[in-house]
Amino acid sequence: MKGSWRALLVAGLLAALTPAGASAQDPQWARATQFADKPPIAFGAAWYPEQWPEERWKTDLALMKKAGFNTVRIGEFAWSTIEPREGEFHFEWLDRAIAAAQRHGIMVVLGTPTAAPPAWLTQKYPDVLRVDEDGTRAGHGGRRQFSFASARYRRFARDIATRLAERYGHNPDVVGWQIDNEIGPPSFDPEAVALWHAFLKQRYGDIDTLNRRWATEYWSQHYNTFDQVPLHATGQQNPALLLDFKHFTTATWTSYVMNQANAIRAHADPRQFVTTNTMFWNGGFNHFALHRGLDIAAWDDYIQDANPDWIANGANHDLVRGYKQRNFWLMEAQAGRIDWVPVNRALKPGQVREMGWQAIEHGADAVLYWQWRSARNGQETYYGTVLGQDGEPNPIFGEIAKLGGELQATSAALGGTEPVAKLAFIYSYDSRWAIDLQRLNRNFDPIREFTDFYRPFRIQSQGVAVVSPQADLSRFPLVVAPALNVLTQAEADHLAAYVRAGGHLVLGPRSGMKDDADAVWPERQPGPLEPLLGAQVEQFYALDEPVGVTGDFGAGKASIWAEWLDPQAKDVRILARYTDPGGWLDGKPAIVTRPVGKGSITYIGAWLDPDLLASVAHALLDQSGIAPIVPNADPDLEIGERAGEGKRVLIVINHGDSAHPVALPKGARPIAGTIVDGQIAAHDVAVFRLGN
Ligand code: GLA
Repeated sequence: MKGSWRALLVAGLLAALTPAGASAQDPQWARATQFADKPPIAFGAAWYPEQWPEERWKTDLALMKKAGFNTVRIGEFAWSTIEPREGEFHFEWLDRAIAAAQRHGIMVVLGTPTAAPPAWLTQKYPDVLRVDEDGTRAGHGGRRQFSFASARYRRFARDIATRLAERYGHNPDVVGWQIDNEIGPPSFDPEAVALWHAFLKQRYGDIDTLNRRWATEYWSQHYNTFDQVPLHATGQQNPALLLDFKHFTTATWTSYVMNQANAIRAHADPRQFVTTNTMFWNGGFNHFALHRGLDIAAWDDYIQDANPDWIANGANHDLVRGYKQRNFWLMEAQAGRIDWVPVNRALKPGQVREMGWQAIEHGADAVLYWQWRSARNGQETYYGTVLGQDGEPNPIFGEIAKLGGELQATSAALGGTEPVAKLAFIYSYDSRWAIDLQRLNRNFDPIREFTDFYRPFRIQSQGVAVVSPQADLSRFPLVVAPALNVLTQAEADHLAAYVRAGGHLVLGPRSGMKDDADAVWPERQPGPLEPLLGAQVEQFYALDEPVGVTGDFGAGKASIWAEWLDPQAKDVRILARYTDPGGWLDGKPAIVTRPVGKGSITYIGAWLDPDLLASVAHALLDQSGIAPIVPNADPDLEIGERAGEGKRVLIVINHGDSAHPVALPKGARPIAGTIVDGQIAAHDVAVFRLGN
């Protein structure tokens, strides 16, 4: 066991630190399942049959059919029902639940139950329990109380995953697997510490290299051996250590997930996908790396204040799609209300359907609600659900059923299609983490900055892909990296090659500052891309109040962060300058660009206000030949296209509270929803076929 455990760790480590392989669109995955006889778009809910008397199941399943469901996700927290005592297994109820779903024409995604170990397990083997950074050991009664580094826990996880796969790996109604549930919390137990040391040794080879790359002469941090390096996620530590902690969690979670993925694949039909469900902008590990060994990505989308910012939410969908550059599953969607924020208001009428369609537009091939019905007791009884406590439909049922009907009506058109992205945004976990570790301006939230940059490009282009810094960029005429703070030489070479091949690259503020051990490059920003840009950042400034910016795109403001750019090469053009009377930035270049063959590299040195950024986006999209599908659409309107297999589908969503006109492309034929007198109503959706 020990050998394979180490091998898995190394595999995880390599996955975490080596560039992604091929990442082109992969149309084979542009259907909910790889089973040709199953629906191409999945619609359903998390269902917990173990929480209800069996006599009730058929009523539930019949109601699901009424809602247009064709999928249930089951089993994910059922360990104590499957194995109530060590070595005593009860799968019969699960056999019957799957068979009952099958009788109703409902396909199944099976969860491995490892997010919720039974009491006997943690009581008999307390060494598997997670330990917090402050040394507190977790106990039973919640979930995720295991250590991601525990070899014993992995043995139990592998065993239960194997048994499930042996039993259901060839069940034609089980279309896929979800490993664990929302993995995330790390552990600081002794096994994790030992693994941390092994990880660092694997990464740096010898301690001198670690000392050099972390600059440990500073504050007498020098280490004589790897064993001396403390395991920390927070606190007054060297940010290099804290960034490597993220690399460590990536490697450890990757090997944790692959332990189960390998167990499943050893027994399962390869058409059954293997995935795990991730969370909103979760920064606990590098999701690009973790997904390399999985078939598809899946995530859980909750709108915390029930007031969706459609662009921020859409950016997260695009990010999830980007993990594999394949269509994904929305494994959990909000059936109205959540229960974990101070005021858990419900989405407005129409918004549940609207958010379902948004997921589809961004490349989801599945929308599953959490959850069907709340257990009669437990931590989540107040959650928004499809059914009420009496087992009858809640008011949201009608809206969900409407979406279900629409998905049935459009699934032939949608099956095999993928979202059409006109440009790519680069999302870098290392950059996000490095900025978060040393913000300099506390208001520099890297997610907000990413979203602010993404916003005008999404509105104006109506299709953006989000990709890793190593992804194949060749199919995108324009690539924007809003804050590529950590930039390795290999990534810089990759981006330079893209530009030399005719691509237009745009870097945002704070780009090219650090290497992947969080050390500053000896060159000024953008570090290894400075020669290509022919300009450098003379100095950067955290702003407590906005400064003016004027130039080719009009006048506006920069706030939070501004960099004084210094052109070195003759062919660098200054596109905008700061106006900052009496300040350091006055008259200094804020945006520069340089042609490179048919391509170009542009550096935006500041966090610009929305209007100015919208003008910049307009000019850059124009330069790259990118035009919207529906011109002059109101920013409340989300427009997107899915295409593939000779089909084109246009999805129009009005996220606003009032009606808006839509200038449809010629020949658009409605297949779901309506537009009356050229207007789409508030919180409404309309779907069209385009082309022949
Ligand atoms: C997560 C979990 C679910 C449920 C929801 C509630 O997404 O995966 O089991 O707890 O949160 O928000």
